[in-house]
Amino acid sequence: MTGKQRTLRSARWFEQDSIRGFAHRQRSLQMGYRREDFMGKPVVGIINTHSDLATCHQHLRQRAEDVKRGVLRAGGFPVELPTFSLGEVLVKPTTMLYRNLLAIETEELLRAHPIDAAVLLGGCDKTTPGLIMGATSADIPAVFIPAGPMMSGSFKGRAVGAGTHTKKYWDERRKGEITENDWLDLETAMTRSPGTCQTMGTASTMTCIVEAMGLALPGAASIPAVDSAHPRMAAQAGEVATRLALHGLPLSELLTEAHFNNAAVALMALGGSTNAAIHLIAMARRAGLTKYKLTDLVAAGKGVPVLADLFPHGSHMMQDFHDAGGMRALLSRVREWLDLDTIGVDGNSLRSAIEGAQVWNDEVIRPVDNPVTERPALAVVKGSLAPGGAVIKPSSASAELMKHEGRAVVFDGPADMAARIDHENISKDDVLVLRGGGPVGAPGMPEWGNLPIPKPLLEKGVKDIVRISDSRMSGTHYGTCILHVSPESAVGGPLALIETGDRIALDVESGRLDLLVDDNELSARREKWQPPEAPSRGWSALYVAHVGQAEDGCDFDFLLADGRPVQEPEIF
Ligand code: FES
Ligand code: MG
Repeated sequence: MTGKQRTLRSARWFEQDSIRGFAHRQRSLQMGYRREDFMGKPVVGIINTHSDLATCHQHLRQRAEDVKRGVLRAGGFPVELPTFSLGEVLVKPTTMLYRNLLAIETEELLRAHPIDAAVLLGGCDKTTPGLIMGATSADIPAVFIPAGPMMSGSFKGRAVGAGTHTKKYWDERRKGEITENDWLDLETAMTRSPGTCQTMGTASTMTCIVEAMGLALPGAASIPAVDSAHPRMAAQAGEVATRLALHGLPLSELLTEAHFNNAAVALMALGGSTNAAIHLIAMARRAGLTKYKLTDLVAAGKGVPVLADLFPHGSHMMQDFHDAGGMRALLSRVREWLDLDTIGVDGNSLRSAIEGAQVWNDEVIRPVDNPVTERPALAVVKGSLAPGGAVIKPSSASAELMKHEGRAVVFDGPADMAARIDHENISKDDVLVLRGGGPVGAPGMPEWGNLPIPKPLLEKGVKDIVRISDSRMSGTHYGTCILHVSPESAVGGPLALIETGDRIALDVESGRLDLLVDDNELSARREKWQPPEAPSRGWSALYVAHVGQAEDGCDFDFLLADGRPVQEPEIF
């Protein structure tokens, strides 16, 4: 928080002696509020991503009430504004198509209304970056409340995690190794309560990173959704937001490059999702760091070991992580890589946020000299197949495939893949390639990048194979998947030109991904290439016309913080 008191932007609505000021007061009284409720009070907007179809956010309607309690206690005026809700599982074709819609909606909700500070309620994958991107562009102070992980899953006495084990048991079912009854029982075993996936998927990756950046209260990210500590944290966040309204910095001013470098350190120590690479770039660019790029993230996290032993790369769940000390404990173990002077939304430094933190279970949060894996959580490869870069999560991939050359087997989209993958003659040394899954091509860059292992190979016991796509992969999945190939095939990237039978060379250590086809042949193929037909109406048409590539965070060109002034609405 700053020492200086801000003027309340809500005063422009409520305190004018004009016909408009009259109407704003009159209509607030119409809702049953008293003048004392809102006149001269910091108005805290609670942006709520609850909906009846947002599976992980079922508790957020109640949580908004807990926030209001905190705001009232601190002398503010809480108002709840529902927004587009991106429940990862039920929203089709992919929530990523709508992340920017949530961001723009958040920004405009905050701008259009008399709001002085925001509390952002979210957690399911895209909701965290969407809310933060929007609040950053809205130029007001904000605090993020992570929805919190769901209860741990359990099946026949074994730990099972959302996403991670669905895939594992689906593979077993395809091989005929589990019964129909077990498959039915699994429907209730993994997802037992409100809250986000309890594995280190994209949801927990993003909420934990956001805590490391100081945008959530210290310790908040791992509190289970159904833990009584969760409503207490929410109420406290309401109090903090009320103080922020008068003394806080807008996110656009608070966030510095050091915050994003700390985010990268957290990502690596968590063994977090590759999706974070896209979201962090987008968030950084909203905060005015227009040059921040993938290689900056990887450089900031270089050498940081994966210490959080969580599914999918480890064997514990978010509740174990919480009980082991959570983010404060994890960050205290990688403090030598962190900039501890970064300031969080509560006005305190990261140094003070992690002060006194202890690890209570070395199996869940490993010591630096005994990491879960030596391989990093994120690496970037570039080369003739991905001139703009592509990412891989070495910590969830096979060590023996980190350097590999193989024959390409190419699929044009998921339907083509589904029709052919189990029937082609594919060897374990081949490289599966899926194109048409990028931000423009799909559109919305769905999580198609974890291509299934062909059934005949599964039956021979093959567990992993190199896979390449311009798509994303769920953070709860694992495998040697090269993702986010940029430029994507739909805009004419080299991926568009590859043919079955071509050779591909991957070398993660030296950061290379190359298509071993000579330039003359590629030029001849390019002559014949036709771009796919773009959607012609609705959100999808707007989306493909403005979305950037994965290496640039998949944001819209007209929403970037590139020096254009943000305008407060006129009130006449
Ligand atoms: Fe919501 Fe995984 S589906 S967090
Ligand atoms: Mg996910």
